[in-house]
Amino acid sequence: MHVLVTGGAGFIGTSFVRMILRDRPGWRVTNYDALTYSGNLENLSEIEGNERYSFVKGDVRDAQLLDEVLPGVDAVVHMAAESHVDRSIMDSGPFVDSNTRGTQVLLDAWRRAHGVDRRFVYVSTDEVYGTLPLEDKNALFTEETPLQTNSPYSASKAGGDLMVRAYHHTHGMDVVTTRCSNNFGPWQFPEKVIPLFVTNLLDGKKVPLYGDGRNVRDWLHVEDHCEAVLTVLEKGRSGEVYNVGGNNERSNLELTHSILSIMGHGDEMIEYVKDRPGHDLRYAIDASKIKRELGWEPTRSAWPGALEDTVSWYTENRSWWERVRSGAYQSYYETQYG
Ligand code: NAD
Ligand code: DAU
Repeated sequence: MHVLVTGGAGFIGTSFVRMILRDRPGWRVTNYDALTYSGNLENLSEIEGNERYSFVKGDVRDAQLLDEVLPGVDAVVHMAAESHVDRSIMDSGPFVDSNTRGTQVLLDAWRRAHGVDRRFVYVSTDEVYGTLPLEDKNALFTEETPLQTNSPYSASKAGGDLMVRAYHHTHGMDVVTTRCSNNFGPWQFPEKVIPLFVTNLLDGKKVPLYGDGRNVRDWLHVEDHCEAVLTVLEKGRSGEVYNVGGNNERSNLELTHSILSIMGHGDEMIEYVKDRPGHDLRYAIDASKIKRELGWEPTRSAWPGALEDTVSWYTENRSWWERVRSGAYQSYYETQYG
């Protein structure tokens, strides 16, 4: 089996590439990535030289390059995307271009290379469902929940999601889609809330908590997510969507208190800042379909252990995040109010 992973130099992609090489000894992986600000080959230094691994610096919007690369490939796992909601608020253009148009260009190239019979997995997001009310604790996103996107990021991901669905319906392509909740773990770009808060605290800075901190997210360890994607690649039913979640809902205030407590700080390190515009209130996933049909469930996401391990990783890898953070990046909060 030869899998091409788009976005294989990003946070989830590097974990997925490592997992395939470790857990599927007969497989080859091509990592196809444009190396935007969040793509970092340093995260894969341990597999450099592995003869089952190769890297192609390429954009998913580059049809010509895809036509050269895709013929020898058995399956595509499409993870490449602009992934940060705050950036999509500042400038939505790159999101529509990479996430919606890029997915269409890749689907067309995949069909040109092999017709419709080879598998294409699209890594979408739970954010395509919009938001759930805070009051109704029993409400969950199912695969039948209508897509009601609220941010330019989620709208651009939904564009790709709907393209994938349309290529199955219209052309009969072998596609499967996953919609996953918030990931955490090592090597996450420190613009996302957990690595941002941990690295701020390691630098003696306060953590900028948006609004009143009541917003709820469902946290899943990145390796659990990657195992779910691998399961869907191997066993998912063609044309289906599978929700992926951690059964690990926390308000941002609870999350912040957990990080502060692990790191030995108190509430004085919280800075309540103006809310993210359009901030979705609550994400919560019904992941019973993937468990029932494919036997996947999370095994590495339980707190506090998995969160403590993640905090330890950033504590022990200061040189990595200092290098990554040294670029031009400023958080949404800093650009607006800093
Ligand atoms: P990331 O930003 O860390 O990595 C994205 C990768 O895609 C980078 O390596 C980047 O260089 C590459 N890329 C971006 N645009 C590209 C283009 N036009 N052509 C080729 N490569 C390009 O993101 P992540 O957190 O690893 O997310 C990976 C995927 O998982 C995304 O599709 C995201 O929407 C989805 N997802 C993420 C989460 C999460 O919590 N992080 C949850 C659910 C779904
Ligand atoms: O749900 C899946 C999605 O999770 C993925 O599709 C996205 O790619 C990924 O970025 C993530 O989106 P979020 O917007 O939920 O993640 P983020 O880490 O940016 O924010 C998590 C929560 O923390 C959110 O409610 C906003 C809040 N937050 C975030 C930042 C960066 C703060 O309070 N302060 C901050 O500085």
